Amino acid sequence: MSSDTDATADRNPTPAASRASGPEIIETPGQIRSWRVQQRRVGHTIGFVPTMGALHEGHLALIDHARERCDRVVVSIFVNPLQFDQISDLEQYPRTFDADLALCAAAGVAAVYAPSVATLYPDGYQTRVDPGPLANRLEGASRQGHFTGVATVVTKLLVAVGPDVAIFGAKDAQQLAVIRRIVNDLDLGVEIVGHPTVRDDDGLALSSRNRRLSDNERLAARCVPEALAAARSAYASGERSTGPLIETAVARITAEPTARLDYLQIVDPDSFESVHDDLVTDDGALIVTAVWIGETRLIDNMTLET
Ligand code: PAJ
Repeated sequence: MSSDTDATADRNPTPAASRASGPEIIETPGQIRSWRVQQRRVGHTIGFVPTMGALHEGHLALIDHARERCDRVVVSIFVNPLQFDQISDLEQYPRTFDADLALCAAAGVAAVYAPSVATLYPDGYQTRVDPGPLANRLEGASRQGHFTGVATVVTKLLVAVGPDVAIFGAKDAQQLAVIRRIVNDLDLGVEIVGHPTVRDDDGLALSSRNRRLSDNERLAARCVPEALAAARSAYASGERSTGPLIETAVARITAEPTARLDYLQIVDPDSFESVHDDLVTDDGALIVTAVWIGETRLIDNMTLET
């Protein structure tokens, strides 16, 4: 796997003019704004899929959905240092720009927006977007400042790209809720679409972090979707008390010696507050978890419905 550990490095991609086909590569907010103005002038609608690269079938499903919805699709590739609380996690994040570009070309992406860190956060950069209490729960509690970093970069990207529709994965359910919150609160005027989680044959949600799992860890990681699915089927069979639903799921994770539970809760999908009164009264609550498998932290969620 190719890995560039210098997060601030520019990547010098092949200039668009010398490429026979494939997406236009755009590196600054000014250029992406001009591109957008041109596209709008000829009446095209724009769909946007923000990513940190290391693209896999989960990202590609979002891109396909954006293509179905819009005339032109923009994919951003930017490993956002602001949303990492551990420098080692940022450094280890896979960087596979050339492979990503080839996948975008094959998927019919019109433009790849790939700014450098220095472009988005030049010396003297100060502003943060604070999404409020939602950002301090669960993932936000485990990863200090994570959602402020996500909200800040997504706001910058949405303002620069100015799409009609932006697609995000339900796999990162709290991120999706945070983005809906900021788009609504800041009147960003973009339709936010959540796309269902894409899973591998063994049930594991696709994630660039899965590449870090050894073969044995990969087997152990199955406990994550299996735990959630066990609670979901207990719900479908009529169990409504949060205690037994959570215990069913936790039991599957604690049965796996390599796994270490960070959190597992049943929450409202918009506020991410725990479901009240120890009872799930309506379909649509989310069971969400974060689990360490060795050194790799995996997150997943499923909707409880009949
Ligand atoms: P990244 O992890 O690259 O994910 C980009 C998008 O792909 C997110 O919306 C994520 O939820 C979605 N995605 C990832 N795995 C998926 C899967 N298995 N099924 C469906 N969708 C999946 O999320 C980020 O980047 C960043 O936080 C970002 C929003 C780009 C801001 O930096």
